[in-house]
Amino acid sequence: METKIFSQNQIDDAVKLLAQGDLVAFPTETVYGLGAIATNEQAVKSVYAAKGRPSDNPLIVTVSDATMMAEYAKEVPERAQKLIKKFWPGPLTLLLYVKPHSLPKAVTGGLDTVAFRCPNDELTHELISKLGYPIVGPSANTSTKPSPTTAEHVYHDLKGKIAAIINGGPTEVGLESTIIDLSVATPIVLRPGAITPEELSAALGEKVLINTGKVADKDVPKAPGMKYRHYAPSAPVVVVDDPKDFAHLNLTNETGVMALGKILNEIELPAANKFNLGKNLADADHNLFGGLRYFDDKPNIKQIFVQGFSGSEDTLAYMNRLNKAAAGHHYMPK
Ligand code: TXA
Ligand code: MG
Repeated sequence: METKIFSQNQIDDAVKLLAQGDLVAFPTETVYGLGAIATNEQAVKSVYAAKGRPSDNPLIVTVSDATMMAEYAKEVPERAQKLIKKFWPGPLTLLLYVKPHSLPKAVTGGLDTVAFRCPNDELTHELISKLGYPIVGPSANTSTKPSPTTAEHVYHDLKGKIAAIINGGPTEVGLESTIIDLSVATPIVLRPGAITPEELSAALGEKVLINTGKVADKDVPKAPGMKYRHYAPSAPVVVVDDPKDFAHLNLTNETGVMALGKILNEIELPAANKFNLGKNLADADHNLFGGLRYFDDKPNIKQIFVQGFSGSEDTLAYMNRLNKAAAGHHYMPK
């Protein structure tokens, strides 16, 4: 299959492909998503196949607005309405009870809940509105690889496996949406993202919990995707929590370093072994996945050291993704 690259004035062509059950990757403000019409079981199943994704890991349902969402949710609780008013369209995914029989089982993995997302992206808004149905929207990467933040990343992973990619340029945020579970007594953040627990709590006027990801073996994890290996380049990744420790690392031609520009400047390594995360945390969010992919294309790199951040809730999303990429490995000074 030839994978077409569509520009912003080819949305109608993309709508046609989706309507006939084909897969089209689309831009969002977080990362690129892999779209299929959510009401067509065959189309949804082919998303799992293209990504190589385990079938018990349910898919996000991407809607054009809250009205579309209401057709597939069992009910829209007041909490959801508050969050929609404040954060949609935007990088927040709401977990609600699904309206029975409104979506194929392949979407929810057989769960009684469904994750709804309304991205802040004009092209994707037009796409879903014209289609008239929601599209599933997992990140458009091969399962276990870093999520794609450019159309080129999507092409790299999925060329020949999907019908088209809508090129909307690099994504803004760079990390996937915050997921909040509203199907439980106390709202709980299942995946940290650009919208922090603090902001959610303020909008709701009540406490929200944060999922630490630690579930007993016998438990079914609340966000099934959280149990799989993720964001992993081929070379092992090590988190460096204190920037001062970059001076103590054993750096060779086979090590890669990802850090803010001011820290990289102090490190003596060939330019190709360094990846600049930018000037601040927001830049680092934006560039993290791109950096992991950059080193993945360099087979001579045998280990990647990546700067960690701490000190505020804003660092939760970045550290969540980086810890997964590093499988929990942190540099320990002697
Ligand atoms: O920013 C984003 O959310 C991106 C863009 C493309 O919209 N999408 C995204 O989808 O990150 P994905 O599939 O890569 O991650 C969705 C996560 C997975 O960990 C999945 O297990 C969880 O959401 N999830 C989906 N439906 C769920 C459900 N019914 N219950 C619990 N977790 C669910
Ligand atoms: Mg993903």
